[in-house]
Amino acid sequence: MKDVYILGIESSCDETSMAIVKNGSVVESFVVLTQMDTHAEYGGVVPEIASRMHTENITLVLEETLKKSSIKIEEIDAIAVTYAPGLLGSLLVGVEFAKTLSLVYKKPLIAVHHTIGHIYANALDNKLTFPLLALVVSGGHTDLILMEDDYKFKILGSTLDDAIGESYDKVARVLGLKYPGGPNVEKLATLGTPSYPMPKPVQDGSYRFSFSGLKSAVINLVHNETQRGNEIRKEDLACSFQTTAIEEVTRKVELALKNMDVKELIIAGGVASSGYLREKIKKVADKYQVHLSIPDKKYCTDNAAMIGAAAYPLFKQNKFADFTLNASSQSSIVEYQ
Ligand code: KG4
Ligand code: ZN
Repeated sequence: MKDVYILGIESSCDETSMAIVKNGSVVESFVVLTQMDTHAEYGGVVPEIASRMHTENITLVLEETLKKSSIKIEEIDAIAVTYAPGLLGSLLVGVEFAKTLSLVYKKPLIAVHHTIGHIYANALDNKLTFPLLALVVSGGHTDLILMEDDYKFKILGSTLDDAIGESYDKVARVLGLKYPGGPNVEKLATLGTPSYPMPKPVQDGSYRFSFSGLKSAVINLVHNETQRGNEIRKEDLACSFQTTAIEEVTRKVELALKNMDVKELIIAGGVASSGYLREKIKKVADKYQVHLSIPDKKYCTDNAAMIGAAAYPLFKQNKFADFTLNASSQSSIVEYQ
């Protein structure tokens, strides 16, 4: 079969990214332009600034992506774009740009769901083996998903409140760490011990997650101690929070592996770049002797290579979008089944 080259476009939050991906697994060219430093000044992503910066940068990112590739735009087989979920204004910039490229260069258009993109980051340099268990841990999602085949998703459990990445970011803020908080909390936690008592999240034997009680416990502890004039051992608090948060996800993964016969365990999303999570999840995979796939760190946080990878099964099934494609801030992956 002829090789298939897909141009992936991702602009759902504060990264403008494009990639050319061959056959859903080989990254030919890859560019990420992050707005992180701009948003860090405000302590989080400012949607209006994000969409304006995407508009300013998107053409430059395309030029750079093509410059890094031996493939010309005329040789691309399809244009894939994240259409949901995310910040509406940011998504729209990518969707309209993709539609324009599709029209001008007469290439089919493929609409990719952002969370599915995170999952398919595991198809880069790896062949997915079904059935598989996927743990999606990002700033917007915490889901445990069973996949019987390509694009066959069964959500076993999701968070009841905050996403795990969101709770990392809020804990970082109260500890005075810079946005995005996850990597900074992890760095600080390596210097501490889990010596602060933390509440245990949902323990009902289900696959549901909860992080809001844990996050609030950290925030309340900081406020109370500050009011009393007591010093906070920030390293220990970061470590206590991280230990409990990661234990919450690894425990549910372990429960699923105990109850289900899967061939592969994959992790995805920004929090999957945590060295601590990777270490703990590896222990669980080893215990249940299941093959573990973890994307390269640069494909865990938002990127377009994962969009090119997730578009490939849709390309093979001729599932193309038309020019009525619109961005959507919310959307469930279950709609795909
Ligand atoms: O997937 P992603 O780039 O964007 C979303 O789709 O949400 O994930 C971003 C999230 C942020 O909440 C960030 O703090 C978190 O991933 N994150 C981490 C680490 N690196 C990124 N959380 C914990 N430890 C890390 N090393
Ligand atoms: Zn993401």
